[in-house]
Amino acid sequence: MSPDSVDDTPGRGGHVAVAIDGPAASGKSSTAQWVAAELGFRHVDSGALYRATTAAALRSGVPPAEWTAAFLLTQAARVSLAPNETSFTPQVDGESVTEEIRRPDVTRGVPHVAQVPAVRTWVNAQVRAVARSHDVVCDGRDMGTAVFPDADLKVFLVADPWERARRRLIQRLSRGPTEEEIAEETDRLVQRDAADVTQTVQAKDAVLIDTTYLTQAEQVERIVALVRAARLRRPLTPWEGLPLVPPPADGSID
Ligand code: CDP
Repeated sequence: MSPDSVDDTPGRGGHVAVAIDGPAASGKSSTAQWVAAELGFRHVDSGALYRATTAAALRSGVPPAEWTAAFLLTQAARVSLAPNETSFTPQVDGESVTEEIRRPDVTRGVPHVAQVPAVRTWVNAQVRAVARSHDVVCDGRDMGTAVFPDADLKVFLVADPWERARRRLIQRLSRGPTEEEIAEETDRLVQRDAADVTQTVQAKDAVLIDTTYLTQAEQVERIVALVRAARLRRPLTPWEGLPLVPPPADGSID
């Protein structure tokens, strides 16, 4: 996707945009994917675009210390998103990089690539371009601030670092991790949180959801309810956003 060929004009032609942001391994992508499937929307993983650009740069053989903004933009031009059933498959040179972008060298390199303003402009343009032709659920760090300040719904997901590490390891290892493995992964996540701190921004009007004690089904259900409420443009009842006891049936509130 060449930066010149993307229509980055404002507006979404009536399409809905849901922005889900939060720190590393807070469950954004899997939740966004599920929410999109429930609503018949498309999921767009902005992190996959930063990761695919990093994977392309690593494939080039140029050492990371020599990656300039201009070089990274030429790598970004090798990246594309191929539509699949509910989301998009990230590609480099037309080849799927779904597995490759999860490699540890990509995860280590991506925060540096993501700090380059020209790369951020490019990623944001790709995400906005998709949102012009589809209802979307987009996840990342700055979807509700830099990319869709006018999103129909903004959610910011957080979870305890230990729990985030545990979930990420289960996903990666397909088994229960040891305490030692969780402790090491927690350290790595906390370091990545620090590296990503400038771009991980909770929008003032985002709904904050702490998923530490929620199952994925519960968080998906909560977000789907919030999207439906936002689309009806009615004020949220407290129990849609918070685990509160519903008010009495006669509507009286003490
Ligand atoms: O691994 P995790 O799901 O937390 O991250 P990701 O969504 O795959 O994003 C990978 C990296 O891309 C992050 O660590 C950030 O450095 C960067 N990123 C960003 O800066 N802004 C975004 N909107 C999305 C990702």
